[in-house]
Amino acid sequence: MHKILTIVGARPQFIKAAAISHAMRNLQAEIAEDILHTGQHYDDAMSARFFRELDIPQPRYNLGVGSGSHGAQTALMLSGIEEVLLKEHYDGLLVYGDTNSTLAGALAAAKLHVPVFHVEAGLRSFNREMPEEVNRVLTDHTSSLLFAPTETAVRNLKNEGFNEERIVFCGDVMLDNVRHYAPLAKVCESISQPYILATVHRDFNTDNQERLKNILAALCNIAEEYKCSMLFPVHPRTKQRLESMTDIHLSDRIKAVAPMSYLETLAALQGAKLVMTDSGGLQKEAFFSGRCCVVLRPETEWEEIVDCGAAMLADANQQKIAYAVGRLWEHTPCEPTQFGDGHAAEKIIENILSYR
Ligand code: UD1
Repeated sequence: MHKILTIVGARPQFIKAAAISHAMRNLQAEIAEDILHTGQHYDDAMSARFFRELDIPQPRYNLGVGSGSHGAQTALMLSGIEEVLLKEHYDGLLVYGDTNSTLAGALAAAKLHVPVFHVEAGLRSFNREMPEEVNRVLTDHTSSLLFAPTETAVRNLKNEGFNEERIVFCGDVMLDNVRHYAPLAKVCESISQPYILATVHRDFNTDNQERLKNILAALCNIAEEYKCSMLFPVHPRTKQRLESMTDIHLSDRIKAVAPMSYLETLAALQGAKLVMTDSGGLQKEAFFSGRCCVVLRPETEWEEIVDCGAAMLADANQQKIAYAVGRLWEHTPCEPTQFGDGHAAEKIIENILSYR
């Protein structure tokens, strides 16, 4: 019996963990999972709701770390995870993506010689100013198995000199999820058609007033020009920043709502004319749902979506955003063939079980 410790902490990780936890439950005799929640995300709307909705097993450990500076947050997670790893024997530690929780888990395990399995390995924005890029690079370099969701990710790892035996092209667990949960999507907001689904939460967009103002102005102008609504679920970080800015006036066409659940997000995607976001996860979910996406960043880790014409990089630049909306408004994206076959979770578990 393989005993695995899964580290989660932030919203996108609960969603990815759902795919693998469900696949593990089908193999109960061979693999057992304990979940450790760092507590990086702690509001019901950002955390507990995803466990209920996606039927993820309750965490055995919750470190309750909460918010803080990167160093303080990561340090608390590191010592908390180390304590658990010293107390119990695990055959491996599973981490997802690029958050501070990912890095803390990988570092704690690598130092104790517990094999690290990284899901979503090999992604690169090549922008070291993003905390997520630092987290990805360091996590990959402490990992025993690197589960790459795309061929681009495989190539990035090879270019960095990783031993090819450690790299597994498995496809994307988020495609597994969209395929599985799309029929269960749940409409929560009544909104007039047509509408754009928009989100902003990256620190370089929220913590720079000029960038945030540019993005909000672009959302308002586009809503007016296209006579469309804008469904705008607001991340807690963005909400804090908006509350401190007194000179912001949003158009009546913009419907700012609380963060949505996963099934609500899928329904919002299915009904949307277009998506505008700086989230990596939502870019892919848009593509998997047959929607085009304007990326509110200067670069992306998911370049295959841009290469096939389903997304455009527009940064926080009002002209670029307007141009991209014009180009993508009536465009139908291609099929998402670059992200595996929707069975990434099974492949990941097979490889973990055969890892020696
Ligand atoms: C983190 C990840 C990012 C991921 C994102 C998904 C890092 C470096 N970044 O960014 O890769 O895309 O999660 O959302 O790990 N807050 C609340 N309630 C919560 C959670 C957060 O109020 O439940 C507030 C806190 O005040 C916090 C701020 O939001 O300071 C930002 O949270 P944080 O965990 O620092 O990072 P995210 O921006 O969510």
